[in-house]
Amino acid sequence: MPSDTLTIIDNRTGKKYEIPVHDGAINASDLRQIRVSEDDFGLVSYDPGFMNTASCQSKITYIDGDKGILRYRGYPIEQLAEKGTYLETAYLILYGELPTKSQLDEWTYNVTHHSILHENIKKFIDGFHHDAHPMGMLVSAVGALSTFYTDAKNIFDPESRKKQTCRLIGKMPTLAAFAYRHSTGMPYAYPDNDLSYTGNFLNMLFKMTELKYQPHPVLEKALDVLFILHADHEQNCSTNAMRGVGSSHADPYSAVAAAAAALYGPLHGGANEAVLKMLMEVGSKDRVPEFIKKVKGGQGRLMGFGHRVYKNYDPRARIIKQVADMVFEVKGRNPLLDIALELERIALEDDYFIKRKLYPNVDFYSGLIYQSIGLPMDMFPVLFAIPRTSGWISQWEEMLIDPDQKIARPRQIYKGADKRDYVPMDKRR
Ligand code: ACO
Repeated sequence: MPSDTLTIIDNRTGKKYEIPVHDGAINASDLRQIRVSEDDFGLVSYDPGFMNTASCQSKITYIDGDKGILRYRGYPIEQLAEKGTYLETAYLILYGELPTKSQLDEWTYNVTHHSILHENIKKFIDGFHHDAHPMGMLVSAVGALSTFYTDAKNIFDPESRKKQTCRLIGKMPTLAAFAYRHSTGMPYAYPDNDLSYTGNFLNMLFKMTELKYQPHPVLEKALDVLFILHADHEQNCSTNAMRGVGSSHADPYSAVAAAAAALYGPLHGGANEAVLKMLMEVGSKDRVPEFIKKVKGGQGRLMGFGHRVYKNYDPRARIIKQVADMVFEVKGRNPLLDIALELERIALEDDYFIKRKLYPNVDFYSGLIYQSIGLPMDMFPVLFAIPRTSGWISQWEEMLIDPDQKIARPRQIYKGADKRDYVPMDKRR
């Protein structure tokens, strides 16, 4: 009868150990008993970049990277994108179940009525240089919110968490839009509570002198689907930052600022911006083979391709292609689309990409859509951060109430100098 244990024989000592296996994992602390001597710290596992380390147990998002499956709380992303709305999805991610009609109404009301910013935040944003990157402004401004809501420090009070959740989800689009308007030198447009979450966001981005902004229903819907696709993605770099910073019991605004900072990088949420830059650099369809050759020769990466978890087509990229068609019908075909399609076609047939299981990820097409909606490239990571806020908060809350969790503090393998004595300045070489 096989038992759920792992037998380890330490060939350094000849000792044998029996380690329990639960849910396909061993507890890394169980390795500590494996020692060569009394004063040995014990065996640790070395795993830069968390290639094979589970940092938590989670009930939020399920991904099967080989099969290209993504589910929030058990619901397939395809169904949520087709039938749901972003606020409904955010509720699901945060509270575990799809909301009833009255729950959704209350949730929508609360998020909508937390969208206005304190006027001082405007002054804060005014302080940025005219060409400041909007993601830099967003990271700083969301961190600054912690100084406005000191009650956010009560992280173990569920009511306080609920309030900060509504504030964060309500205010992120406002911060993002204000950062955009600042960079274009336009007056800030205030939230309009009559509009949907994404309709209001479009209003705050693009309202000019009209008394009432009317969002285009197709663009409003397209943005809503994009927000659903970006709402959570289990333990990625920014979520890990959210959990890591949150594990020191920092307030959620500070933790979201850290998560957004992690998202900013071009290997993560900054990739959609990098994709557009790459497409513009390629310039035309006929230069695609030359570009692919460079990538294969180690000169740069094909941005928007590859994923730590997906070793198959990213299911979000499939849906995004449909959204792109919707938007291009209204706004006209983005001329960079042909280059993107050609890059995808060639890469999917090429041995280099096939062998490494590199497929388009969520960022490959999202930038083209954002550009067609009329947004500049440096707003792309900001557009990722808005919907991901629901995922970050949900993961943060799960971490806080998980009795297994402690302050995040990895071990290291020290490879530096041995003890040596201080050398006076005149003796140094
Ligand atoms: N273009 C060309 N080659 C690539 C790419 C790419 N986009 N991605 C990975 N590779 C190659 C690597 O060079 C490596 O080849 P090697 O085995 O010959 O050395 C191999 O594939 C494995 O790559 P790793 O970097 O080890 O894979 P990892 O899981 O660490 O990286 C990552 C995943 C960061 C997403 C990577 O694929 C990448 O840089 N992609 C481009 C940036 C991007 O699109 N990021 C967005 C990800 S989705 C998101 O965060 C929302």
